[in-house]
Amino acid sequence: MGRGIFTNEFIEEVRTASDIVAVIGEYVRLKKVGQNFVGLCPFHNEDTPSFTVNRERQMFYCFGCNVGGDVFEFIKKRETVDFPEAVRLLAERAHLAVPVLDPADEQRKLERQALYWANELAKKYFQSCLYHRELGAEARAYLARRGIDTATAQKFGLGFAPDKWESLLYYLRQSGVGQEVAIKAGLAIPRPKGTGAYDRFRGRLMFPIHDVRGRVVAFGGRVLGPGEPKYLNSPETTIYRKARLLYALDQARSGIERENKVLIVEGYLDVLACYQFGFDFAVASLGTALTSEQIALLKRYTTNINIAYDADAAGQTAAARGLQMVRQAGCQVKVLMLPVGKDPDDFLRSHGAEAFKALVEQAVPLPVYYFRQLTQKHDIGTLEGRLAVAKAMVPHLAGIENLVEREEYTKKVAEKLGLSQEALRAEIKQQIEEKGQVGFRKPTITTKARPSLLPATRQAETDALMGLSSLFLANPEIRPLIAASVPVDCLSQLPQATVLKTMLALFDPNGSDFSLPELANMMPDQDTRNILAQLAVKPPPVGEAAELVADYTRFLHLLWVQRQIQILKREINSLKRAGKNEE
Ligand code: UTP
Ligand code: MN
Repeated sequence: MGRGIFTNEFIEEVRTASDIVAVIGEYVRLKKVGQNFVGLCPFHNEDTPSFTVNRERQMFYCFGCNVGGDVFEFIKKRETVDFPEAVRLLAERAHLAVPVLDPADEQRKLERQALYWANELAKKYFQSCLYHRELGAEARAYLARRGIDTATAQKFGLGFAPDKWESLLYYLRQSGVGQEVAIKAGLAIPRPKGTGAYDRFRGRLMFPIHDVRGRVVAFGGRVLGPGEPKYLNSPETTIYRKARLLYALDQARSGIERENKVLIVEGYLDVLACYQFGFDFAVASLGTALTSEQIALLKRYTTNINIAYDADAAGQTAAARGLQMVRQAGCQVKVLMLPVGKDPDDFLRSHGAEAFKALVEQAVPLPVYYFRQLTQKHDIGTLEGRLAVAKAMVPHLAGIENLVEREEYTKKVAEKLGLSQEALRAEIKQQIEEKGQVGFRKPTITTKARPSLLPATRQAETDALMGLSSLFLANPEIRPLIAASVPVDCLSQLPQATVLKTMLALFDPNGSDFSLPELANMMPDQDTRNILAQLAVKPPPVGEAAELVADYTRFLHLLWVQRQIQILKREINSLKRAGKNEE
């Protein structure tokens, strides 16, 4: 079975040609420490290296963010591509000829490439028009009026679409791109009657929209004077999905990583102004509500999200609970207190970079933001007003997952309103019980390796399962003993148990040895694959292997017995309650 369009043979050929230390070394500065290579994790921000690569096993694992895998997994994550594309990239790196296997898939890929190419040509054409003496004069004057300097305009690839019906189409045709492709790329619109097509963008200042990897996928075009719509955007195409993209993320990536924070602004011109004033970590949501896909994209670089919308828009976004989702994704959300009716572009131009810097530094956490909004809406000089604010704050407070944080904010709100903390706390508790506001959230990865919050037994169980798996991987001689002594049916539902069970299922005492990639393929989900990667880079437990196996299995067995007793006790109790003593 090949994954995607490649045979297993080809995948293994690529793997062999792509030493993981060499490949990752092209992205991360690695240092040899003992058996492993370590460096700063490219998937989260850290100061001390917890990102570990093991050459022997060709696996990586980060002890900070618990992400791991083989060389393909690394490329998938770092280059934001799917598995076949990762294979292709590594094959190209190793100068291996990529076999063409599935004609339909190859066709789709060619089509997509044609769209990228058409957009790339369009960007070039629009740029040449902007800097053309006569054609671009009006647009350049507009840029000057808006205070956008040439360096910024060039950095973001701005251009101008002349006010003609077929000028881009003509240019594309000269470059070998036909009308069909131009239409598919959203650059042209078919004429309603008969044949032919006309340019979608006419007489507009053009903003190319790039994906994370820097490819042009769409455009936004702004009118130079009054006119509707203010911005005309490319339609969605096979290479452009609005909800999965943030404007300028390709440019802002390194700034975001350096600052460990991102500014989310609303529009193209806000990003440009931010950049020009020295804030190179801004991206734009392009006038739509934030989607979970966009958050997932950002989370590769930072979890510190700063919303920099003008006050009205920020209020609407916050009210729409879009931000609540962001919090639930394990992000820290803050809001810049911009004056009403001013977007970052306006603010930077009227107040300057220093004032904006202060706004960024003083951005307020979401609960504080909500509180300020509410105290503006209600008169807290009166008891009614204070009660109204308290009531409206309850869902926001209940939405804070971190208990310490929630308690802290609850205290502050009660104090500021001069109301009883106990009463407010009771309201919050009730809200949580009714709505299940918290608790459904999966534990999120924090950037620092944190002390274990697991109960002691759970930790010991995890240790035993990991110890057994680790010994199993490291030591073929001990495998039969492990296979014979682990009480497979008594294992719990922990992912670590699944990993061990999967290994044991693949183990054939008389058969051939299995490989780590084979094992990874057998894992049911990402969780278990990450655990396998962790095992691969970790040295096995110290001690006499047979003794360790005996200790671990004895413990797991004991745990099972205890759990059985508990189940029985619970059954007995419920039978008693039902008055069925004899049973
Ligand atoms: P704004 O109306 O706030 O515009 O829309 P802006 O970015 O501040 O631009 P200027 O300063 O008036 O020139 C914010 C974003 O919403 C999208 C665009 O992405 C815009 O940057 N938008 C707005 C559209 O797509 N179409 C529109 O007609 C208006
Ligand atoms: Mn604006």
